[in-house]
Amino acid sequence: MQVISISSLKGGVGKTSITLGLASAAWAAGVSTLVIDLDPHADTTTGLGIKHDDMSTEIGTMLRKPKQFRLHEHAVTSGWMQTNQPNGTEAGVLDVIRGSAKTSLFEKVTTRRREINRLVTLLEQTQGYDLVLIDCPPALNGVTRMAWAASTDVLLVAEPSLFSVAGTERTFRALDLFQREYAPKLKNSTLVVNRVRVASTEHKYRLAEMRRMFGKRMLDVQIPESSNWQQIQGAAWPVHAWPGDTASTAARTFDRLLQKLDQPKVPSRRALQG
Ligand SMILES: Nc1ncnc2c1ncn2[C@@H]1O[C@H](COP(=O)(O)OP(=O)(O)OP(=O)(O)O)[C@@H](O)[C@H]1O
Ligand SMILES: [Mg+2]
Repeated sequence: MQVISISSLKGGVGKTSITLGLASAAWAAGVSTLVIDLDPHADTTTGLGIKHDDMSTEIGTMLRKPKQFRLHEHAVTSGWMQTNQPNGTEAGVLDVIRGSAKTSLFEKVTTRRREINRLVTLLEQTQGYDLVLIDCPPALNGVTRMAWAASTDVLLVAEPSLFSVAGTERTFRALDLFQREYAPKLKNSTLVVNRVRVASTEHKYRLAEMRRMFGKRMLDVQIPESSNWQQIQGAAWPVHAWPGDTASTAARTFDRLLQKLDQPKVPSRRALQG
């Protein structure tokens, strides 16, 4: 099971948007996926079409007593599953573990393995998914560290701006230190740049700077700034099902991103089309 944490130290750079874009690519490809919303703000839960009155057990409660819960028994089906998938795709599963404000109780940084491994313990019992996506809060505290400890991949998100570049360097440093001590399952930590405007000179400069700083850790898929992004997210809709060329271009970009992160389970679109 591939477990990808989407994280950043800086807020508002697009973690939730990238999580939703990857979830949409997995949904469109029929990959059985579980999305865990670790951000107390719970935007991913909303974006995946989970109603506010849903009463399923949320992640904060399960993290308190991880040995008492079987995570997959509390997963709810994303509202996206009611949308027709693109032609020729076999329906997979897209489930969600609801986020809640209770998660913020775990924000304290600790070196105690029992604390750090709370999500590891929950995921050990989890069955039936090929891919797990974890949306993290904008911090490198206890909750994000729990996600890193449970992950095979960490995807950092940055914008092409000075502050975001500096924050990403600090995050990679913290992650590398943490990995050695606490995250033996973690195999890949990479960076994706979001909100790129190809015509912007400043963005070109920052992209070149990041390439020099992060080398191959920076993925060569970049997510462009997209005018209808908020509308798609506001409708709690998968970008792969949204009409129009802009959405369709964004959808192809997330297909490529998912394939870059892939360990063999994600079929390429060409393979899907036969
Ligand atoms: N590529 C993009 N093009 C246009 N708008 C975007 C793009 N990526 C993100 N946004 C918008 O920017 C805002 C912040 O994005 P998002 O919520 O995904 O960031 P975040 O890192 O999850 O934030 P937080 O740190 O608060 O959790 C949202 O309104 C989102 O719709
Ligand atoms: Mg977010």
